[in-house]
Amino acid sequence: MGKDEEIKEIMLGMVYEKAREIFSETIIEYGTNPGNCGTIDDPEGYAKITGVCGDTVEMFLRMKGEKVGEAKFLTDGCMLSIAACSVAAEMAEGTYVRECIGITQSAMLKRLEKMPQDHVHCALLAAMAVQKALRQCIESKEKTRGFRCEVSQEPLL
Ligand code: FES
Repeated sequence: MGKDEEIKEIMLGMVYEKAREIFSETIIEYGTNPGNCGTIDDPEGYAKITGVCGDTVEMFLRMKGEKVGEAKFLTDGCMLSIAACSVAAEMAEGTYVRECIGITQSAMLKRLEKMPQDHVHCALLAAMAVQKALRQCIESKEKTRGFRCEVSQEPLL
């Protein structure tokens, strides 16, 4: 390892050490190495939501039978928003639509652990994006083959 690489490793170690004092390991992992990041061409469910902070989340869903087959997201938000979107998409993928009702802000906060209070809205934004995209999937399914499923109209707290 060269000198520059060595210095980079030391500095990264210091950054991660500081981050661990504030965030959970889960947030750091999902926030710096998110799964499900990207888009889906011609998604069956799509949502674009801008939160109170001014950041935007886009959620893309494709169905596979009665389950969410694929979920992807894009966001220009903070690391916490990236972590929340990644968890939301992961929770949706492979899940029956009727069970996706459980993808709420509180479910994500529980999964992410140690979310700073001034960033809990990042989880709400991700939950709202999933639920809105799901609603679009359901509406298009209902139109094509009489499929019926309830999705919460309640605030996702
Ligand atoms: Fe805007 Fe996290 S989504 S601060």
